Amino acid sequence: MLQPLPSCENTGSVLLTPMEPDIQILNELLAANGGFVPGNRLTDILGVSRVAVWGRLERLKEQGIEIEAQRQHGYRLVAEPPYLHEALLRAYARRLGVGTDLYFHSTIDSTNSEAERLLAAGMEDPCVVVAGEQTAGRGRMGRQWHSPHQGNLYVSFAFRPRLIPRDMPVVTLWFGLAVARCLQDEFELPVLLKWPNDLHLNGRKVAGMLTEARIDADQTRDLVFGLGMNIAAEMEAWPETVRQRATTLNSHHPVSVNAVSMSVIKAVLGSFARFVAGDREALAKDWPRFDALAMRTVEAEYNGKRIRGTAQGIHPDGSLRLQTEDGAILSLHSGEVTIGRLQTEVAQ
Ligand code: BTN
Repeated sequence: MLQPLPSCENTGSVLLTPMEPDIQILNELLAANGGFVPGNRLTDILGVSRVAVWGRLERLKEQGIEIEAQRQHGYRLVAEPPYLHEALLRAYARRLGVGTDLYFHSTIDSTNSEAERLLAAGMEDPCVVVAGEQTAGRGRMGRQWHSPHQGNLYVSFAFRPRLIPRDMPVVTLWFGLAVARCLQDEFELPVLLKWPNDLHLNGRKVAGMLTEARIDADQTRDLVFGLGMNIAAEMEAWPETVRQRATTLNSHHPVSVNAVSMSVIKAVLGSFARFVAGDREALAKDWPRFDALAMRTVEAEYNGKRIRGTAQGIHPDGSLRLQTEDGAILSLHSGEVTIGRLQTEVAQ
């Protein structure tokens, strides 16, 4: 599955010197937490003239970052753009202490494909690929993942984990828990996990996860975890069928696209490190708090038949525990689950 294709435009952190002053400026503005940063602080940090700082700030404003200038007080960040902005995302990475290599593309075919290419090209792991838009975004079961430039996060994580294949279904749930926990605890968004690959907010799909792996001699060599999350997209532009089933984080309450994206990236990286270190306790312990299906009546495919039952959490191997109407307990290892009779598995 992982083909050694030529890598696209590489804007990874090592090649980012022209952007560094913007990151430093934004870092200072974020640190001031809405307050003013004196102009001479910026000139000192950057080691450039006031005119050069002013020029940088003007360009940042043109890119959608609202910055107020006051002669006596300096500069202050008024509003962030409702879409991913590379320098701002990197400034948040610095603030949150995320030092992992990050490859940013304003547009790309698929961040999962690019992560696979980076691994195939021998890139050091872990690394993260972020895009503002995907032209060939992939969803589960061969579906397309509609990925316009519209305030969404498209991100993939590339790992060489040496896990046993049995860990694979668990690892997606594990990442999903990390994302849901981050959104609940840091952003007060009541996001839940709908087994096995979706994140739900207020009963609608807000994000989808796609894990792909290359397995050699019974070990997972290359692992790519992809996450597509609707943050600030204009839902009015969505087709009616999608609007009924999907939602954005901002529909609950407004969040900073770049802050929430970097916090989620940090959460996934941290959770992977714990997973590799052998921590499996948190999955079973935390599942009930994040379980979108808990005690819900669901329908699913089982051994080629449509079955109906009550979802009762997960088994330690990540399979869904389902009690059928005749009282039998089944373990569902993969597939799509429908809540009630309503199909909730949607491409976006
Ligand atoms: C699903 O079908 O629900 C899973 C969707 C996963 C989409 C993400 S967007 C970032 C990454 N790149 C892709 O091509 N797909 C995943």
